[in-house]
Amino acid sequence: LASRGAVICGPDSGALAGGDVGEGRLASPAEIAQMALLLFDHRRAGRHWRNDLVGRRVVVSAGGTREPLDPVRFLGNRSSGRQGIALARVAAARGADVTVVAANVTLEPPPGVRLVTVSTTEQLRGAMLVESGGSNALHPADVVIMAAAPADFQPVAVAAHKIKKIGDGVPQLELRRTPDVLAELVAHRVGGQVIVGFAAETGDAEADTRTHAIAKLKAKGCDLLVLNEVGDGRGFEVGENAATILSPDSDAIDVPFGSKDELAAVILDVVVTRLR
Ligand code: CTP
Repeated sequence: LASRGAVICGPDSGALAGGDVGEGRLASPAEIAQMALLLFDHRRAGRHWRNDLVGRRVVVSAGGTREPLDPVRFLGNRSSGRQGIALARVAAARGADVTVVAANVTLEPPPGVRLVTVSTTEQLRGAMLVESGGSNALHPADVVIMAAAPADFQPVAVAAHKIKKIGDGVPQLELRRTPDVLAELVAHRVGGQVIVGFAAETGDAEADTRTHAIAKLKAKGCDLLVLNEVGDGRGFEVGENAATILSPDSDAIDVPFGSKDELAAVILDVVVTRLR
């Protein structure tokens, strides 16, 4: 069916009839409806659906990492994981073998997608390097997408017990930088891997969002950088997004405001043109 262009939704994993556990469940009605909506959106935008990722392995990170301060507190960010999950859903529907490395994501992974869960930036780094490089009979990824928002700083020391309030005092936190996962993935690129980063930018007194993003694309060395303008209710924890796709060697592509699934579809269109 896939080779004849049918979109396959699922199968999902979980408890099966007869007490077995594994792949073989019908995808949830919500997931099937979401797929149908995506196909309608696609047709409305005048694009034909293609199963152009059959035989390709896609590894995508999603969510936001957390750096513990003590057993109950952490430094984190507002990423929900929606964009990473949307990329996984659309890549799987286009025939890819997909792994999501999810950091603190409460959304259900799409059916048929392999899930690896992590919490801290260091764990995300380890999982992304293993998954992109290939292991346990999985071949290296053809496409690596860093849609997660890693925490950039971590406490130098993690308190073993809950930090108590003492008098009017406040704790002094000493922080250090976490590894730059995307830069490391680029440094360990396997074969002709297409590597995609995201840039969450607000713009500031120094420069506008696009200028910051172009500098980030150069600094990280990835093939594509998806610029999201964030702040004022845009970007994080919302279902819709506008974005600009930047690359070092071709014109910027502005993606109008739309669903995160639709943005995922446009990103993957650009990725496919770069696959060898
Ligand atoms: N990223 C990463 N490792 C980090 C920080 C970010 O891999 N420690 C990745 C993100 O997943 C994203 C890209 O780098 O794909 C850009 O993330 P962003 O938060 O926009 O930029 P930073 O590199 O953190 O730079 P700054 O906060 O200074 O803008």
